[in-house]
Amino acid sequence: MSSEVRVFTDASALCRAAAEESAHLFEERCKQAGRCTVVLSGGHTPRSLYEIWARDFGGSLPWRQIHLFWGDERCVPPDDFESNFRMVREALLDHVAIPPENVHPMPTNVSPPEAAAKAYEAALRREFPESWPEFDLIFLGVGPEGHTASLFPNSPALALQDRWVAAITTPAEPRQRLSLTLPVLNHGRNVFVLAAGKEKQEALRHTVLAEAQGSAEWPISLVRPAGNLLWFLDEAARGASAPRN
Ligand code: 6PG
Repeated sequence: MSSEVRVFTDASALCRAAAEESAHLFEERCKQAGRCTVVLSGGHTPRSLYEIWARDFGGSLPWRQIHLFWGDERCVPPDDFESNFRMVREALLDHVAIPPENVHPMPTNVSPPEAAAKAYEAALRREFPESWPEFDLIFLGVGPEGHTASLFPNSPALALQDRWVAAITTPAEPRQRLSLTLPVLNHGRNVFVLAAGKEKQEALRHTVLAEAQGSAEWPISLVRPAGNLLWFLDEAARGASAPRN
């Protein structure tokens, strides 16, 4: 694993840098392999990144070769304001010519959540017939208490080694969620972690900034991909006197 931390003035600069870095990766990967597989994160931070893709790269990226997946989803309808799919549709999908068959949302119309997790896992296994999916790029965020995707501190889902997708009851609303599991995240070729805002300082101080051992108390610390791990932080999340990119 190679790990690098980049610090930016604010969330806007962070998302601009992540958009440019990822766009370059998409182009390279599509040239090499004919397609690029990307796992999108939910929450608020990455919305600007998706909007930059739509606004500044909408006409230039090879969308016909880019496949989008979700790292986690709330078990709500796809038009619910809490839906990660809805956020991506509004910020990106409604604005770029990506074929519908390249968009792979988690099936929140399937219940119970365990059945939805199994259905998404089956869909992933069709896309990745090899033993583990090696996504070209996985975006992750960090919660104030160190959660990532929908893997929260000390969750039993952190111990899953034979599942690709888990149905999880989380401490945060909405409480029923679907999430990729740690082994899937750690098979990523490239993982970009985006963290902005002072409320992320404590989680970062206990993890990447302390170069700490992985701990179930801070799930983001358990993300140690075989490939490249790149942290995009703003100064507020990094804390004072941060060297700036
Ligand atoms: C979700 C996300 C979650 C998110 C963090 C950070 O569904 O909410 O997948 O893991 O990345 O909670 O969220 P913010 O970007 O809103 O701070």
